[in-house]
Amino acid sequence: MSSNATVTVEVGLGDRAYDILIGSGLLLRAGTEISRRLPGTRAAVITDVNVAAAHLETLRAGLEKGGIRPAVIALPAGEKTKSFAHLEEVVDGVLAARLERGDVVVALGGGVIGDLAGFAAGIVRRGMNFVQIPTSLLAQVDSSVGGKTGINSARGKNLVGVFHQPKLVLADTEVLDTLPIREFRAGYAELAKYGLID
Ligand SMILES: NC(=O)c1ccc[n+]([C@@H]2O[C@H](COP(=O)([O-])OP(=O)(O)OC[C@H]3O[C@@H](n4cnc5c(N)ncnc54)[C@H](O)[C@@H]3O)[C@@H](O)[C@H]2O)c1
Repeated sequence: MSSNATVTVEVGLGDRAYDILIGSGLLLRAGTEISRRLPGTRAAVITDVNVAAAHLETLRAGLEKGGIRPAVIALPAGEKTKSFAHLEEVVDGVLAARLERGDVVVALGGGVIGDLAGFAAGIVRRGMNFVQIPTSLLAQVDSSVGGKTGINSARGKNLVGVFHQPKLVLADTEVLDTLPIREFRAGYAELAKYGLID
């Protein structure tokens, strides 16, 4: 793919239809793409500390270009973050920012952040707008699409959650440049699995 090419995949789900944009430089276009679909929206960005260190400032600049100055909640990285305690932290942060139902929760991260932020978006004010900006290969090819959100319980993984479709998915291929090789391989294994199933 050339550096300027963006592919749009339309997910046809009737009144819950949304676009998946795939290409490079999408973080810098995030504000324009979100404002086009959700005019006048305000936003909270949920991320983890690793992803924030590498990509938050680029996303912030991109959002500001579209007139969006986001609240930011940066959580510890890793599976343990998909917990009731961090769900409460995200819910409280979104409410403290005084976001309304028509505003947007933006997940900037891998599958952990996408699942947690999507769940929070699904329950705060009985369901807020949600945008996925997946930053791991696994999240770009799998977890950011389909609307499954949730957290882990002491009784098992992914046992608490809701289906909540995003309004938009921005899969910026440039962010994969900072992904640790181990995480890249995990995503690749998932891709190979789909290939075999196909
Ligand atoms: N909702 C679904 O349909 C679905 C599907 C599959 C998996 N999942 C969930 O996804 C989770 C796993 O996702 P994951 O593998 O992305 O894990 P993850 O979110 O923990 O990310 C893996 C690691 O990579 C780091 N990282 C992510 N993007 C980065 C980047 N661009 N640069 C530098 N570091 C980066 C993160 O900080 C983290 O340390 C699991 O909780 C799983 O249950 C959900």
